[in-house]
Amino acid sequence: MVRITALEREGKLGYPIIAINNAKTKHLFDNRYGTGQSTFDGILRATALLIAGKKVVVVGYGWVGKGVAKRASGLGAKVTVVEIDPIKALEAYLDGFEVMSIRDAAAGGEIFITCTGMKGVIPYSSIELMREGAILSNAGHFDVEIDTKTLLGKAKSVRPVRPNVDEVVLPDGKRVYLLAKGRIVNLVAAEGHPPEVMQMSFANQFMSALYVLQNHSSLVTRVLDVPVEIESQVALATLDSLGITIDRATKAQLKYAESWMI
Ligand SMILES: NC(=O)c1ccc[n+]([C@@H]2O[C@H](COP(=O)([O-])OP(=O)(O)OC[C@H]3O[C@@H](n4cnc5c(N)ncnc54)[C@H](O)[C@@H]3O)[C@@H](O)[C@H]2O)c1
Repeated sequence: MVRITALEREGKLGYPIIAINNAKTKHLFDNRYGTGQSTFDGILRATALLIAGKKVVVVGYGWVGKGVAKRASGLGAKVTVVEIDPIKALEAYLDGFEVMSIRDAAAGGEIFITCTGMKGVIPYSSIELMREGAILSNAGHFDVEIDTKTLLGKAKSVRPVRPNVDEVVLPDGKRVYLLAKGRIVNLVAAEGHPPEVMQMSFANQFMSALYVLQNHSSLVTRVLDVPVEIESQVALATLDSLGITIDRATKAQLKYAESWMI
């Protein structure tokens, strides 16, 4: 999303793009519930650790971070959130999590999970402050969220100790454990999201492709949202597949919603 918007800003888009990740029926569910669950699937398959009682540091409190923090908390972890957006930081605090800078969180955390889409959110200077045995994992973007380049470049030694777990010995002799080489842990060490949540993302992609086929002549070369009608259709079809029927607003309610009169 960030990169496609940057291309649009510089006038370098070659054709209209529908941003599936902007769809509520994508990020509210796939990013939050899908990644929230499958990240722990990956961490647990890789490490076989007990999460209860562990100090988990979640870096980024967007949709992915919210899902990961909630699952960590549900498994009994003590959760700290690191954010740069003051509103999301406040939201994390009021959701019941400790909030602090990565530098302050570094020394206390036992399991670190990056969820930002940004590079270098766990810099090497913070890794140096971590306790012996700290676990580093990424649930966000490519293998750039944790500064693995400097970590591996400065390491005294690196050796695999389990599938998808590398023991990295720092110059001072301290050991930290890097999961999935800093790549997305739920995809590398587990199977990604359950199909039950991916079906909404795929439905958005399919319906949007159909929309482009039917409307390409009138689409402008910009980053476009998934049309709201498609979003509603995807949500209703998902509810239907779950056997859930919801109410519709009555004509009187629709009229009331459009009026300024009480
Ligand atoms: N692992 C998966 O299967 C999976 C699934 C969906 C999305 N993603 C990826 O996860 C990433 C996050 O997605 P999202 O939907 O939560 O995005 P988002 O934009 O909702 O959240 C990202 C958050 O990271 C914060 N952030 C940015 N830089 C930071 C920094 N230096 N320190 C702390 N916080 C910082 C932002 O302020 C923002 O709140 C994206 O790269 C996305 O592509 C991964």
